Amino acid sequence: MAEPEEQASVPGLADLVEEARHASAAAPNLEVLRSLESDLIGKRGRIPGLNRTLVQIAPEMRKVAGAAINEARSTVEALLEARRAELTAVERAAALAADRLDLTEVPPDPWARGHRTVITSTRDRLEDVFVGMGFEVAEGPLVETDWHNFEALNIPVGHPARSGFDTLYFDVGEPESILLRPHTSPVQVRLMTSRPPPIYAVMPGTVYRKDTPDARHLPTFNQIEGLVVDRGITFGDLAGTIESFTRAFFGPDITSRLRPASFPFTEPSAEYEITCPICRGTGCRTCSQTGWIELGGCGLVHPNVFKAVGIDPEVHSGFAFGFGIDRLAQVFHAIPDMRVLLDNDLRFATQF
Ligand code: DAH
Repeated sequence: MAEPEEQASVPGLADLVEEARHASAAAPNLEVLRSLESDLIGKRGRIPGLNRTLVQIAPEMRKVAGAAINEARSTVEALLEARRAELTAVERAAALAADRLDLTEVPPDPWARGHRTVITSTRDRLEDVFVGMGFEVAEGPLVETDWHNFEALNIPVGHPARSGFDTLYFDVGEPESILLRPHTSPVQVRLMTSRPPPIYAVMPGTVYRKDTPDARHLPTFNQIEGLVVDRGITFGDLAGTIESFTRAFFGPDITSRLRPASFPFTEPSAEYEITCPICRGTGCRTCSQTGWIELGGCGLVHPNVFKAVGIDPEVHSGFAFGFGIDRLAQVFHAIPDMRVLLDNDLRFATQF
């Protein structure tokens, strides 16, 4: 530090150092500090500017005065440097705090919830309609035994119907004895072996097939099975039930028809078709110009099925049906390609 009398030899020098001390301590941020720096010791700053006043000083005093100015400049530099270190630390801490990820932060709208998928809501509506008609809702396992899935349903080993259910077997027990169920019909068997008639039940659930996805097929899809077992059940009861269901589900201008078909577990068997809900029966691309859409199969329970589960076909009779929930949702909502059901695309999902 210069001696007071040396500093006094340069008018205003001591005041400038004092001003620098206060102003740097008060600088709120690095930007203010930078402009203070250029004001005080920059090229055209006030302290270097004092050098120009040296000419007014007696020549023998100039050396001392010049040294005093340099000394003051170093002092101010040190003051600014110290304040710069403080402000840098403060600004870094603020930037880190602003950047910090708060994992406990509450999401903006804590109540934003999803909703049921179009398949779930279709299944719920199907259940509602059938419950309204006096049916109960039952479920069975997704992994089935060969006996429940084929044997008890009158599809013995080697039966050609097995190939239609090209399916996915588990590597447990006897080879090809445990499988991912390819249809919901085994739940009929589980119901009939678990209690005596009368039975009025629908059985919705997921099924699996080795199908390649396309516009109308998915390898994982959903069916709803129906089963009625009682005394004196006829094909007329089946047709009437199907027609009542169709009108309740689709509305009064859609009707159903049954066409002869063949299933191992029903006799006689029929295909269940409804008026094409897209063209209302006049013919369009969706129904291949026929005016009708096939939704599933049905028929009277085959006596061999009753025998397999220990029900006397001389005493009881019944009907069964099964159709695809995804197919029904596709028709009902006019979804051109079923694969959107697996895409998880919100633009699709939020429409329902
Ligand atoms: N299980 C059959 C399938 O997946 C559909 C079916 C047809 C179910 C006729 C039935 C029925 O109950 O009676 O292809």
